[in-house]
Amino acid sequence: MSTNKPLTIKSSVGDWLADPVGHQLLAELLAQHGRDVSVLKAARMFSLQRMVAMSRGMLPQETADDLVRRVNVGRSPDQDAEQGGAPKTTLPAVPARAWTERIVSDRFGGCTTIVTGAGSGIGFATASRILREGGRVIAVDVSAPRLAALVAAHPNAQLVTVEADITDEAGVRRIVDAAGDRIDGLANVAGIGDDMTPIHETSDQVWERVFAVNVDGTFRLTRAVVPKMLAAGRGSIVNVASEAALRGSAAGVAYTASKHAVVGMTKSSAYMYGEAGIRVNAVAPGPVATNIEVSFASALGEDRIGAAMANIPLAADAAQLAASITFLLSDDGTNLTGAVLPSDGGWSAL
Ligand SMILES: NC(=O)c1ccc[n+]([C@@H]2O[C@H](COP(=O)([O-])OP(=O)(O)OC[C@H]3O[C@@H](n4cnc5c(N)ncnc54)[C@H](O)[C@@H]3O)[C@@H](O)[C@H]2O)c1
Repeated sequence: MSTNKPLTIKSSVGDWLADPVGHQLLAELLAQHGRDVSVLKAARMFSLQRMVAMSRGMLPQETADDLVRRVNVGRSPDQDAEQGGAPKTTLPAVPARAWTERIVSDRFGGCTTIVTGAGSGIGFATASRILREGGRVIAVDVSAPRLAALVAAHPNAQLVTVEADITDEAGVRRIVDAAGDRIDGLANVAGIGDDMTPIHETSDQVWERVFAVNVDGTFRLTRAVVPKMLAAGRGSIVNVASEAALRGSAAGVAYTASKHAVVGMTKSSAYMYGEAGIRVNAVAPGPVATNIEVSFASALGEDRIGAAMANIPLAADAAQLAASITFLLSDDGTNLTGAVLPSDGGWSAL
C-alpha cells in the first residue's frame, strides 16, 4: 500500500505518478502497450477518470477502477464514500448520457465549405459531418497522410483535398482556387497548442508559431475567402476558438492570447459584414479527445493551470464539436452572428 494519501479515480495523473505504487501500476499498464510513463507528461493535470475518456479505449473504465483498487490494496476510497461516507453532492449521480449523432440529410446539399485542419480531430469530424450531409468539402491540412485517411473514410463523397499550410500565402491561394467561384462556408479549425508557459517564460519561438497558425493563418484564409462571399451576398464562417478565449486559466499566454484574437476577428467581421449576408461566429471548445499536442515547459504553468483544471468537465468527442460547428455553419444558424458559442460540457458555467 502506498504511504501517501489514498489515490482515487479523481486524483490527478500527477498525483498517481508521485506515488510509488501508483507510478509502478501506471508504468506496468503502459508497458503492456509498449509505452512508458513519459507519455503522461502532458496529462499530469488530468484526473484518472478523465484519462478514461481521453484514452480512446486504451484505459477502459474497468481497468481504471482496478488500478484504484490495487493502489489502495483492495480498498477504493471512492467506493467507501459511496457506501456510507459523507455524500459529495446533494444531487444523485446519473451516468453520462450517450449522444448519438443524427445526420440531417442534404443539410449542406449544393454548398461548398472549406475546412482547415481537416486531417485530424475536430476538423476531420467537421469535414466528415458536412460530407455525410451532402456537402462539398475543400479539406485543408499540412499532413498528406491525414488527408488521405479522410478520403479513405469517405469514398464517393464530394471531397477535394488541399495539402497546404494556412500560414503560407501561396497555400491560401491554392485553397481558394480549389474551391472555385462559390464558397458557402469556411470552418477555420486548424490550430496548435502552446507549452503552457506564463509570459515571463514564453519564448519568441512559441509565441510566433502559435500566433502564425492560430491568428495569422485564420486571418489570411478568411481575407481571401470573404470577397467571394461578398460577391455572392451570402456565407457562413465559423472560427474555432477555445475555452482559453474565455478565461486565463486554460493554457499558456501564447495560446490564450491567440484565441482571444480569434474572438476579436470573429466579432469585428460579424459587425463589418452583418449587412452583407455573411454570418461569422466562433465555437469555444472545452477539452476534446484529439491529436492536439500541448507540453508543459513551466512548473508555474503546470501548477496554476493544473489547479484550475481539477473540476472541469470530461473530454468531449470531436463529433460533438462538429455538431456545434455545423449548426453554426448551416442555415440553422440563421440569426446568429458574432456569437462565441462555448461547446464545453459546462466548463464556462464554472
Ligand atoms: N482538442 C482540444 O481539447 C481543443 C480545445 C479547445 C480548442 N481546440 C482547437 O480546436 C482546433 C482543432 O484542434 P484539434 O484538437 O482537432 O487538433 P488536432 O491536432 O487533432 O488537429 C489539427 C489539425 O490541424 C492541422 N494543422 C496544424 N497546423 C496547420 C497549418 N498551419 N495549416 C494547415 N493545417 C494545420 C494539423 O496537421 C492537424 O491535422 C484548434 O484550433 C484547437 O486550438 C482544441
